[in-house]
Amino acid sequence: MDRVLWKEREGALSSAPSQWTFSFLKPESLRQRIAGEVITRLERKGLTLKQLRLHRITPAEAHALYEVHKGKPFFHELVDHVTSGPVLLLVLEGPNAVETVRKVIGGTNPLLAEPGSIRGDFSVSITANVIHASDSAENARREAAIFFPEL
Ligand code: CMP
Repeated sequence: MDRVLWKEREGALSSAPSQWTFSFLKPESLRQRIAGEVITRLERKGLTLKQLRLHRITPAEAHALYEVHKGKPFFHELVDHVTSGPVLLLVLEGPNAVETVRKVIGGTNPLLAEPGSIRGDFSVSITANVIHASDSAENARREAAIFFPEL
């Protein structure tokens, strides 16, 4: 993107209220070596990395993270998946961060995720859908606290 256009975009973005959100790149993002591209897409939408950490999620952390899904048929597969290898934990800040990140990521189901969105372009299954992001500011605080208690 050229400099003039970038400045214009920055101006438009700066009028929206700033917020932070929690996200993590699931193990397949690192296995497929698409982590850099996923982060670039988020940064291009005006999001700034406030925290970034390579981490191996424990079963206890996965249970806490996905507690609203306990009892659902996909719960154990989801826990097994996110604990199957290293993930990249992110805290992102920017204009309307919760909504912006969810939009860039796309829908949960890869068959329905919009082309051009991260999941629309890269995800292979509903469980291995590349990236998770909090769906509200309240959940962002709750989920981030599991991994970044200092926040
Ligand atoms: P994520 O954003 O990590 O939040 C919950 C996860 O549950 C979701 O992405 C999917 O990976 C996973 N999942 C598996 N099956 C389903 C389903 N049928 N409906 C919703 N989420 C599912």
